[in-house]
Amino acid sequence: MFLCCWLALVALIPMTSGTNPGVEVKLTEKGLEYGRQLGMASIQQKLKTIKVPDISGSQEVSPIGKVKYSLSNMQIVDVGLPKSALDLVPGTGVRLSIGNAFIQLHGNWRVKYIKIIKDSGSFDLNVNDLTITTSIAIKSDETGRPVVSSVSCAATVGSASIKFHGGASWLYNLFKNFIDKALRNALQKQICPLVADAVSDLNPQLKTLNVVAKVDQYAEIEYSMVSSPTVSSSSIDFSLKGEFYNIGKHQEPPFSPAAFSLPPQVNNMLYIGVSVFTTNSAAFVYNTAGALSLYITDDMIPQGSPIRLNTRTFGAFIPQIARRFPGLMMKLLVKTVKSPVITFQPNNVTVQATGTVTAYAIQANTTLSPLFVLNLETSVSVQLFVSEMRLAGAVTLNKMDLTLGTSYVGEFQVKSLNSILQMVLKVVVIPKVNVQLAKGYPLPTLGKMKLVNTQLQVLKDYMLIGTDVQFIG
Ligand SMILES: *[C@@H]1O[C@H](CO)[C@@H](O)[C@H](O)[C@H]1NC(C)=O
Ligand SMILES: *[C@@H]1O[C@H](CO)[C@@H](O)[C@H](O)[C@H]1NC(C)=O
Repeated sequence: MFLCCWLALVALIPMTSGTNPGVEVKLTEKGLEYGRQLGMASIQQKLKTIKVPDISGSQEVSPIGKVKYSLSNMQIVDVGLPKSALDLVPGTGVRLSIGNAFIQLHGNWRVKYIKIIKDSGSFDLNVNDLTITTSIAIKSDETGRPVVSSVSCAATVGSASIKFHGGASWLYNLFKNFIDKALRNALQKQICPLVADAVSDLNPQLKTLNVVAKVDQYAEIEYSMVSSPTVSSSSIDFSLKGEFYNIGKHQEPPFSPAAFSLPPQVNNMLYIGVSVFTTNSAAFVYNTAGALSLYITDDMIPQGSPIRLNTRTFGAFIPQIARRFPGLMMKLLVKTVKSPVITFQPNNVTVQATGTVTAYAIQANTTLSPLFVLNLETSVSVQLFVSEMRLAGAVTLNKMDLTLGTSYVGEFQVKSLNSILQMVLKVVVIPKVNVQLAKGYPLPTLGKMKLVNTQLQVLKDYMLIGTDVQFIG
């Protein structure tokens, strides 16, 4: 008995622990390399802000006796970071290694000895072979946005050379090593905190992830991370919710995301996998909001068309209509009766929509008299593309099936209306749908991010967008 319950519990665990993401984002080594370039510029700026405090003291120097000295007004002249690497540390984050770096600074010296002798001048300090290694952890914050922190850091100074200008250089040689050590310590102590600052300066950028992206008056998309990023030896993978919701009313659809993972890819900086769950959650939201319905009137039919929305045209196929409602204009209401279902097969996106078409005659006093209701099954093909930071699409009609729902005008051959309704779908409904789809749906984005070299391919159950990115400003 116990064993059976325990087994049942174990079997339930994978279902109850954590949600599968609707969107997966893979940051490749190429993407990290771009990040390294951006990051190094900011670390260099930070290191230029090193402030070296004045150093003063006194030292016994034989045979002169006590020498009082001070070093002041020290300024960083240059910081060079010619060599750096950003490596993935599976399970943790990334490691930034900076080698061969150098810092040059300039300052003033002053000494006083044998009570009355004073001297002063300037000096240059070159710190070479500077090595900085820092581990950066990447996690999810409480809002589902990525957050980075420097979790360990070591800075070592290989060699330092100091050159005094003016004065009694013989004197300085005596305690050169001592001064050199004091300066090195002062620098070494400041490097890691500044690098940690530069790393946490990334967080305001990461906070701009659009965890809730508004789409239109009906829908928004949630892009918060559902778990911490996973770091492998070739990429950092982010699992985002990727779910459309009704604005203000987060109702879950009667289906949930299936686990999926992106194939290993290296050519682009970023890969974004958008699952069929995400697109189906959109269909659910728009259908639930009643947004998938359209009244069609004659003025929406192209002028040149011989087919008009009036009882004369329809009367040619259903004589009762012409007889009972002579000389009236008509109106059609096309709407879905359940959420359209989207399927992704390799290179093939298809939407199956089930709906109704209700035909009305418009009476002279504007009352609508229902004529019939048809059940409509349609299949459309979708072409998807990325435009700016948005995913857009266009549909074409594949197939349409009509059956009679209700007739208010007696029996008639539904088939006879096929060509009229096909024309209505092709020239009115689908162009309207395409205007909406062309506006696009926001993709996950950070700050002022621009996509370049973008391609999109449709695979089984998800689409894969491969892209490079540029940060502007
Ligand atoms: C696309 O997929 C749908 C169903 O998923 C299928 O009915 C249709 O034949 C496919 N089209 C092509 C061109 O393969
Ligand atoms: C509008 O006209 C139709 C047909 O003449 C009639 O049956 C209906 O009662 C009228 N409705 C109103 C609100 O006047």
